Amino acid sequence: MEEVKARLRPSPEERERVGGVASKALNAAARALADLGLEGEARLGGSYAHGTWLAGHADIDVFVLLQPGVNLEDEGLKVAGRALDIMGAERVERKYAEHPYLSGKVGGIDVEVVPCYRVQRGQWISAADRSPYHTEYLLSRLTDAIRDEIRVAKAFMIAQGVYGAEIKVRGFSGYLVEVLVLKYGGLIELMRAATSWRMGEVLALETLPAGFRPQQQAGALIIVPDPVDPRRNLGAAVSAWSLGRFIASSEAFLEYPRGEFFERQAPLGKPLEPEDVAPNSITLIIEKPLEPEDILWGELWRTVRGMSRYLESRGFNVLAYAAGEDERTIAVSLLLDRLSCCRVELRRGPHIMMAEARRRFLDASGNKGPIWIDEDGRMFSTIIAGERSALDELRAAIRDPVRIIGASKGLEGVLRSARILQGMEALRGDESARKSLGGLAYGRQLA
Ligand code: UTP
Ligand code: MN
Repeated sequence: MEEVKARLRPSPEERERVGGVASKALNAAARALADLGLEGEARLGGSYAHGTWLAGHADIDVFVLLQPGVNLEDEGLKVAGRALDIMGAERVERKYAEHPYLSGKVGGIDVEVVPCYRVQRGQWISAADRSPYHTEYLLSRLTDAIRDEIRVAKAFMIAQGVYGAEIKVRGFSGYLVEVLVLKYGGLIELMRAATSWRMGEVLALETLPAGFRPQQQAGALIIVPDPVDPRRNLGAAVSAWSLGRFIASSEAFLEYPRGEFFERQAPLGKPLEPEDVAPNSITLIIEKPLEPEDILWGELWRTVRGMSRYLESRGFNVLAYAAGEDERTIAVSLLLDRLSCCRVELRRGPHIMMAEARRRFLDASGNKGPIWIDEDGRMFSTIIAGERSALDELRAAIRDPVRIIGASKGLEGVLRSARILQGMEALRGDESARKSLGGLAYGRQLA
């Protein structure tokens, strides 16, 4: 563990280099405010300000605190744009959390400029307003030893694929890791605790206010009150998959600690090869639309659930799904128990004693196949419907994806022109398709 810590700790040179960009960014943001005649203040936040970034992976978060009443999407983004301009940032991009912000690269380092409001503690207007308070709180609590522990915890979670609050990952945010490591005192202690967390357990770092009641959120498996705002659950954004993976890999690590856990995802169960699952899979490949990542992945996961429900409604069993991406495309693979089905179909009818419904059922089904009556007196019909293939079903469905599979409007265009591959064919397709099949084989949702 000491070796891993040493590897992750930024060197004095790196600190100086990153520190140079950070002060440049801070000054640029202050000047941007002045240029635009806006009242406010620029502050450093996130892992740079906390001293918890990983060697070689610095990113600088600058928060621009504006007066309430100013529009964050309008003036806020203008200040951010101006600030990145002043620092000579390249590859400026619009990103999206609860509200939009901008990021760019300065001297090879990612700089994010996030507009928010300057408010009293508790008077939050936008979600980012808490960030300066997070920084203030952490700086009063962190020690260098804890910073080392936070870095190894992040590295472990990155390797296990559960780090990052983005919708794509739905994992542990940097701040959640900071809070959890502070609570337990170190990574090993956090892992030990995690292996016996119970459903809906409240994991509080600070004494909770008298009469505290966690917000009841459907599906929140752990409740981690934000130390600067106990009513906010930092655990709410962590998916069951990420939490479960973290717990299971912690258990495996504690049993047999190895450096590998900081390098790559530990398998859960016995992974298969892509060739094992490919014959039972259907893969859909879309061109990546130009949308902020968080919006894109929110839409994508929703669409995949819709696809899966649709196939189920057509008689298929969707056993699992996974997504993969490359530079240009995103692929989604679905694992099915069989790729064609339902030559013979069952039509359920009413009870024979329900006169009206009985007549209607006979009218509708009487010429399609034999009508049966079961022990309880219910009618049913067995009809020869003809084989249908999941591939054809999906191909037909994406002609009108919003209506048929409940896909997100934003993906309608790329879905209509998606390619759908079946079986081993997908292994010869794009990089993204090989990855999503790899995900199916390995048991990971995102590869
Ligand atoms: P980042 O996502 O940049 O995380 O959020 P980080 O802590 O800097 O970690 P890395 O090293 O870049 O991965 C920056 C700040 O934004 C707030 C927190 O205050 C965090 O410190 N934030 C971000 C949240 O409160 N919640 C989130 O989901 C994300
Ligand atoms: Mn950051």
